[in-house]
Amino acid sequence: MQNKKILVLISGSGSNLQAFIEAQKNADFGGEIVAVISNKSDAFGLQRAKKAGIPAISILHTDYSSREAFDQALAQEINKYQADLILLAGFMRILTAEFVAEFQGRLLNIHPSLLPKYTGLRTHKRALDSQDEYHGSSVHFVTEELDGGPVIAQAKTKIKKDDTEEALVSRVLALEHQLYPAVVNMLLRDQIKFKQGEIYFENKKLQQPIVF
Ligand code: GRF
Repeated sequence: MQNKKILVLISGSGSNLQAFIEAQKNADFGGEIVAVISNKSDAFGLQRAKKAGIPAISILHTDYSSREAFDQALAQEINKYQADLILLAGFMRILTAEFVAEFQGRLLNIHPSLLPKYTGLRTHKRALDSQDEYHGSSVHFVTEELDGGPVIAQAKTKIKKDDTEEALVSRVLALEHQLYPAVVNMLLRDQIKFKQGEIYFENKKLQQPIVF
């Protein structure tokens, strides 16, 4: 089977990107990262990409006068690579409706909460403050609504009595490094499909997120 093309968008550390760099070394993984794009030139993830021999591109949002202009430039660059999947991995930008529509069904995000709980920022702190029993991460298709698209799969961790925000951040990140490549591989292998806003898992409509 020919490898499918993956493009990763980042803004920061890129530890999830690193998980894909490791995953693609595995013969069972059905994809290959064709490029990494960051909206910040100092994102550490760009160095991770270069080290792995992957084209590492900066498109700085600060160089554009509007959100629309930036998203157009980003889409233009993405289209050069003919990617099958576009992965947001710590990409800290709100995307325009036009951008999302162009890539819908091929655009995924990982968000550090058990969606629909806690869209937006500081999710770990909010889970701790609410004394939740569980916290975790979700992989979802991206729609116009921020962190609001259909959720494919989630990984959970039990919140401990003495947990700190920092401890929870690192525990959830470690889960993400397993979850995201596993879910993406299911898409690459056509086990998961997205049709008319619905997720299908092995040709059956997915009623609730797959739990890892
Ligand atoms: C992760 O927690 C992810 O869920 C969120 O941003 C963080 C990215 O971390 N969207 P990294 O840059 O992959 O290390």
